[in-house]
Amino acid sequence: MYNFQYYNPTKIFFGKDQIKELDNILPKGKRIMIVYGGGSIKTNGVLSQVEEALKGNEVFFFSGIEPNPHYETCIKCVEELKNNGIDFVLAVGGGSVIDATKFIVAAFYYENKNYWEILETNGKYIKKAMPFGTVLTLPATGSEMNSGSVITKKETLEKRAFHSQLCFPQFSILDPQVTFSLPDKQITNGIVDTFVHVIEQYLTYNVDNQIGDRFSESILSTLIYCGERVFLDKTNYDIRANLMWAATLGLNGLIACGSPEDWATHMIGHELTAFYNLDHGVTLSIVLIGVMNIMKEEKKDKILQMGERVFNIYEGTIQERIEKTIYATESFFKQINSPTRLCEVGLDEKAIEPIVKRMLDRNWSLGENGTINYEKVRLILEDRL
Ligand code: NZQ
Ligand code: ZN
Repeated sequence: MYNFQYYNPTKIFFGKDQIKELDNILPKGKRIMIVYGGGSIKTNGVLSQVEEALKGNEVFFFSGIEPNPHYETCIKCVEELKNNGIDFVLAVGGGSVIDATKFIVAAFYYENKNYWEILETNGKYIKKAMPFGTVLTLPATGSEMNSGSVITKKETLEKRAFHSQLCFPQFSILDPQVTFSLPDKQITNGIVDTFVHVIEQYLTYNVDNQIGDRFSESILSTLIYCGERVFLDKTNYDIRANLMWAATLGLNGLIACGSPEDWATHMIGHELTAFYNLDHGVTLSIVLIGVMNIMKEEKKDKILQMGERVFNIYEGTIQERIEKTIYATESFFKQINSPTRLCEVGLDEKAIEPIVKRMLDRNWSLGENGTINYEKVRLILEDRL
């Protein structure tokens, strides 16, 4: 097992009717900006719960954060914070709203007014951020309990991530009941996103991290169990609760402790979203299968372990068990209705070259061994035509 440091200051309020807790948690006498997306929180009643719990505070609103949040929109919100003398931000929404909020609270104090530098330097020069909390409405990204954020610049079709220890939410409220209003597509995206977060921190090479591996396998198994049931039993609270907590645990840093990490599927997926505006989860179910196919030799031991412990695959030669495990992963994505090929989302071989070129321009070598260069990226995407 590798050495590691682990730090996570986000306080979680989990369960039914926890939005009420805002009344106790939020600092009194503050000017609070509620940041949200396209309006789902108005129709499903989340906003009115938040407003009720914040009675007696001075509350402002910034709406219109897009899925795959735009840099250009975030900058407008930074101005709003300044114009209104805001000193606390409450993100109410999915990963996009929370990610946008992390960027906004960091940009607020950022010295260089070219805020895009935050993304180009992975947040290295962030010295201060406004405190913020979240009310999560979509289990997927883990953003509610981590310090990462992903922002898209429409002008240049770039989607980049940054991290900063100053960008952990102070608290996050996770009431699984708020996920009942999610469209099926977003439930699927969330399950795929969580699944692939775990895979990025697990399906690498063996460092005898028993505890990390078994944490990961338990999350994968839970996702499969709940994924097979959530669409059949749409009012089941416990399925929603398990999916929500699984998503948070999938990317709050815990399962990464002591293990190598991959993240190639995400990096390639972000480019697919940047160029072709695909949902994050959709890019992942397509790319992961390509990564497993093209990298199966490097990932052999872990694929075999995953086959046994997650999919109960014990029969056959090593090669056969590897193929069966990849097939089982793809079948699970298909079962929950997530695409696994580019043609399913209307893309063909012409879509591949801009992504390969960007990898070449950035000179990126992805994966746990840094062996996924632009040529491997091409192979991975060609595998998914
Ligand atoms: O905008 P509204 O109207 O709220 O609708 C949203 C949006 O259209 C809707 N929605 C959210 N909660 C709902 C709901 N609709 C009905 N009922 C609810 N309870 O769902 C749509 C998608 O929301 P979005 O926030 O975009 O989805 P998600 O949570 O999947 O976030 C995706 C973003 O997170 C980034 C992705 O790249 C992408 O930009 N990621 C962030 C990470 C992080 N910070 O650690 C890691 C991830 O790997 C990922 O990259
Ligand atoms: Zn993700």
